[in-house]
Amino acid sequence: MRFTGPHALIDLTALRHNLGVARRRAPASRIWAVIKADAYGHGMERAATALTAADGFAVARVEEALRLRAAGVAQPILVLTGALSQEETAAAQAHRLDLALHQGEQMTWLEALSPAPPLRIWIKVDTGMHRLGLDPSEVTAIQQRLAACPRVAPVPGLMTHLANADDPEDPLTVHQCQRLRALAQPDQALNIGNSGGLLAFPAARAAWVRPGIMLYGGSPFPSQSADALGLEPVMTLKTQISALHHFRAGDRIGYSGTFVCPEDMLVGVAAIGYGDGYPRHAPTGTPVLVGGRRVSLVGRVSMDSITLDLRQAPGTQLGDEVILWGRDLPVEEIAHRAGTINYALLCGLSTRVQRVSIDECWPRSRE
Ligand SMILES: Cc1ncc(COP(=O)(O)O)c(C=O)c1O
Repeated sequence: MRFTGPHALIDLTALRHNLGVARRRAPASRIWAVIKADAYGHGMERAATALTAADGFAVARVEEALRLRAAGVAQPILVLTGALSQEETAAAQAHRLDLALHQGEQMTWLEALSPAPPLRIWIKVDTGMHRLGLDPSEVTAIQQRLAACPRVAPVPGLMTHLANADDPEDPLTVHQCQRLRALAQPDQALNIGNSGGLLAFPAARAAWVRPGIMLYGGSPFPSQSADALGLEPVMTLKTQISALHHFRAGDRIGYSGTFVCPEDMLVGVAAIGYGDGYPRHAPTGTPVLVGGRRVSLVGRVSMDSITLDLRQAPGTQLGDEVILWGRDLPVEEIAHRAGTINYALLCGLSTRVQRVSIDECWPRSRE
């Protein structure tokens, strides 16, 4: 089937491959596959169905976890930011969710629950991120309250989030891991590594790890490509050429006419814009693939269209395929050009972009 307009191919084989990379890098760890924010734009239910080899799924909010349960996902689900109210705590209990606990109020909601079934609670400790987490000095008191709370299953463990794991040289990561280890009781599991931690820091390969971006084939490191890490891009964002023009030297293109044609030239319009999640700040010169050839975006990105310098692709026809990122054009390169990060581009794709699972359309084998 041929898809017109903006669509994102989601390669489920690549998704499973990347989970395999995480397994090989942290063979003694169990894996929460992080599929929050609609699996970083890839489709949460689709990702959960493909990643049955994960040990559990991690999402940010109770609402996301309930969506997974409604879709029939039976595996453990960890809510990374914990419950935001008494009602959410009760919903988490009813749906057997694992909850992070990072402030005293959440403990009070737990204590007010009906007795069964018991909830699995991960104490989230602020070891240096200074975002969500109990201060280490508060942990013992919470451990005691949890142990005395009949609504709580024997404490699964302690978790923390790494602030600078995208920099393999930064000593903060090892300090954060040490701070968490020092607080753990002998029976408590630790839950640490995000993608950067898991890949670069043995100390972060705890009993549980929580990779996100690497599952989608994105590099967590500014200085290392996804390809060099053995990861495969899961999303390929495509559209098609919707108009072709021969403009004259001096013609100005798009809003504010920021690009002025330096000579008579072929300009293509591609059907994608910031209304689809293509970055508004991608500047002239950002690469795009047209019929497999690298060309440059020119002028401002508008809501539904971008304009392309087709001097390097003279035979381009209406309807030709345009690739914005994915295979052969790393999303990291586009993010860098647009002054943002791969995470933001993947998560920012709008609902207007149809997602198409490749496993469903073009079954294929890989080693
Ligand atoms: C608490 C927590 N754990 C794990 C992750 C996964 O991080 P990454 O996508 O860098 O692997 C995130 C992502 O933001 C997070 O917030």
